[in-house]
Amino acid sequence: MLQSGETYIQSLFAERIGGAMFGKEQKIYKFEKIKRARRAALSAHPGTELIDFGVGEPDEMAFPGVVQTLRKEAAEPENRGYADNGIQEFKEAAARYMQKVYGVGGINPETEVLHGIGSKPVLAMFPAIFINPGDVTLMTAPGYEVMGTHTRWYGGAVVNLPLREENGFLPDLDSIPGDVRKKAKLLYINYPNNPTGAGATRAFFEKVVKFARENSVIVVHDAAYAALTFDARPLSFLSVSGAKEVGVEVHSLSKAYNMTGWRLAFVVGNERVIAGYGNVKDNYDSGQFKAIQKAGVYALGHPEITDEIAAKYERRLRAMAAVLAEMGFNAKMPAGSFYLYVKMPKGVRNGKRFSTAEEFSEFLITEKLISTVPWDDAGAFIRFSATFESQGKADEQRVLEEFKKRMAGLQFEF
Ligand SMILES: Cc1ncc(COP(=O)(O)O)c(C=O)c1O
Repeated sequence: MLQSGETYIQSLFAERIGGAMFGKEQKIYKFEKIKRARRAALSAHPGTELIDFGVGEPDEMAFPGVVQTLRKEAAEPENRGYADNGIQEFKEAAARYMQKVYGVGGINPETEVLHGIGSKPVLAMFPAIFINPGDVTLMTAPGYEVMGTHTRWYGGAVVNLPLREENGFLPDLDSIPGDVRKKAKLLYINYPNNPTGAGATRAFFEKVVKFARENSVIVVHDAAYAALTFDARPLSFLSVSGAKEVGVEVHSLSKAYNMTGWRLAFVVGNERVIAGYGNVKDNYDSGQFKAIQKAGVYALGHPEITDEIAAKYERRLRAMAAVLAEMGFNAKMPAGSFYLYVKMPKGVRNGKRFSTAEEFSEFLITEKLISTVPWDDAGAFIRFSATFESQGKADEQRVLEEFKKRMAGLQFEF
């Protein structure tokens, strides 16, 4: 029976997005809660600066050479049409980049590289390539959930592999039970990791290759932050012997080149996986604007841009870690990414207690106008991002001083 003002459309939504209950669910998801709390805090304290450690994207423009290339190429008639599965120059640039930055040689640009309109849609397509109803995708958690969501949409199941501090935020592959291994087709990993900032080791990647081979699993390594490392050189999954036989790596220009809005990524690795991706992709989109791909060619040819961006995050993260450590948090420099991932306090002395990271994050935004992202998947942690807005280097210090000032007087108990 239709309520007044309702149409039959409400009854037709697919079950995968909530069916007839679509848009009416009582449950509010984490990121929506954060947005609402932000809005409420801003209207309760008009004129007060919001300190935004919550954002997951760069605070600056793409570099001038990249922008100039787009400007020029956008005016070229040859770039106007559908790009389909990509232009040859971009594939070749990606293969050269893998050699130059990661020491991964021998990539065939004809068969082992394909672009994507950002890594998010690339990851979203993997279940369409491999997952039949009943198949399993292994996903590290906490993490970037897109591949899991689409696995469910195709009737598959997701098995989460918790990332725990005591394991260096690496999944414990040995603990995966036999029946899960039998059904597993995809393994999603992401290093440097969002949100933990942890880096992988070569030994871990070797273990992943062995696991994949023994269990006939395809590895998808999400390398969105791979080039943003601090103490060690960037490490590619494909640099490990045998990796190309078991999987692919997804690289993105979003974080490494301040190009989030441009939407450009590439998948590299196993030829059969790339062929499957090309087939599905061709049924979803008609490729990224060729002028953007050509700007991407310029970017991939200038990895020193990423070095400059990484140096800025390193400077900020070190300063943030020092400030948080002064407050009692166990804040350590991450191996890569632009995130600091710290255990939440149990409470404030003579004050509020927190039972989840979500509660602590809500406290920070409501009481202090400080935005963060909480994670309660494997322990209660808060993510502070180094991409907060500031007017240049000197202003960074001012933002951190303001952060300290707002937290002053709070004695956290851990
Ligand atoms: C781990 C991870 N993977 C993938 C993405 C998506 O990046 P993009 O689609 O901009 O390439 C993000 C973005 O935040 C991310 O954090």
